[in-house]
Amino acid sequence: MKAFYLVKNGDAHSAFELRDHNLPDPAENEVLLKTESFGLNYADVMARLGLYRECPPIPTVIGYEAVGRVEKIGSCVKNVKVGDRVLAFTRFGGYASHVLTPELAVIPIDDNIPSGIALALAVQYSTAWYALEECMNLHAGDKVLIHAAAGGVGTALIQLARRRGCVIAGTAGSQKLEYLRHQGVHFPIDYRNKDFEKELIKEGWGGKLDAIFDPVGGISVRKGMNLLGGGGKMLVFGGSSMSDAGNIVQKLKVAAGFGIWSPIVLMKRSISIIGVNMLCIAENKRELLHHCMSTVMDLYKKGELEPVVGKEYPAKELAEAHDFLGSRQSIGKVIVHWDLT
Ligand SMILES: NC(=O)c1ccc[n+]([C@@H]2O[C@H](COP(=O)([O-])OP(=O)(O)OC[C@H]3O[C@@H](n4cnc5c(N)ncnc54)[C@H](OP(=O)(O)O)[C@@H]3O)[C@@H](O)[C@H]2O)c1
Repeated sequence: MKAFYLVKNGDAHSAFELRDHNLPDPAENEVLLKTESFGLNYADVMARLGLYRECPPIPTVIGYEAVGRVEKIGSCVKNVKVGDRVLAFTRFGGYASHVLTPELAVIPIDDNIPSGIALALAVQYSTAWYALEECMNLHAGDKVLIHAAAGGVGTALIQLARRRGCVIAGTAGSQKLEYLRHQGVHFPIDYRNKDFEKELIKEGWGGKLDAIFDPVGGISVRKGMNLLGGGGKMLVFGGSSMSDAGNIVQKLKVAAGFGIWSPIVLMKRSISIIGVNMLCIAENKRELLHHCMSTVMDLYKKGELEPVVGKEYPAKELAEAHDFLGSRQSIGKVIVHWDLT
């Protein structure tokens, strides 16, 4: 089998090396699939830059999701069989011609589902489902703020919040605001040129927000906390602002930006902070991961969710795909087709 190894942190063009290695055998509860396409997630960009603590030491194969056909199964696997087309969530190892993952991280998919759509539903929509449906309890009319709203997880959060009848504010770079409007965001904010906290206060949302989904981290979390009303919840699920921090002092500044929140303050204001890490869920609550993946796939089939595929690349252009996602220009999902022999 072949795999793209992350061999060097930094520039995408020197970071990956295509290497051969032996095909692994699945353990009793594992599935081995032959990859058709794999997805990119912003965490991959962070891993390449050496900013992702959970990334295994290099050289390593990163990647959280793949679509392909089952080639081998372990002796206890019941839900899929050899030859099935499946969507797989992987704890690393996705950038490869073959992917090994536990049975509960795999769901069967129809042949007519484009691989990009399926891949969007793996990490990004499953994370959004877990965050919005399993961790929050949103009601029609609730005021919701979604950061990085035009991205993969952001698009999924918009569609799920819309399903609940929420009023949505979303932040993104200026060239993505029309996309946000089209997705149903009531109040799109160009956060790079405007202070989202001031904009929301001007709109009368100060102290009234019911839910915030924040993958940016740092000062963005502290500002968001100021905007929450009684019963409001802040869900923190990333730290993309770390990628702007060039040195240790700037990194410490981002970390300090989150603020320190005493349980007494949270109790007095009746607000909550929730942390989400899907890798942790994939490791410790496999049935829940399976439930999230199956549910978003069912909703897609019913026409209730519409994943957006931003760009597709051949495998030899993995570096270009990384550059595109890292450039902050992408909208929706970025995927790579495994077309190497
Ligand atoms: N905790 C979890 O389990 C989990 C799971 C999946 C994803 N995530 C996190 O969710 C976020 C979105 O992931 P994704 O894969 O869907 O990526 P994405 O949103 O498709 O792409 C990243 C986008 O983040 C926005 N962004 C905002 N501030 C940024 C900054 N300081 N540096 C770089 N980009 C910034 C950029 O768009 P604009 O500038 O236009 O907004 C960029 O296009 C990432 O932070 C990721 O790590 C967490």
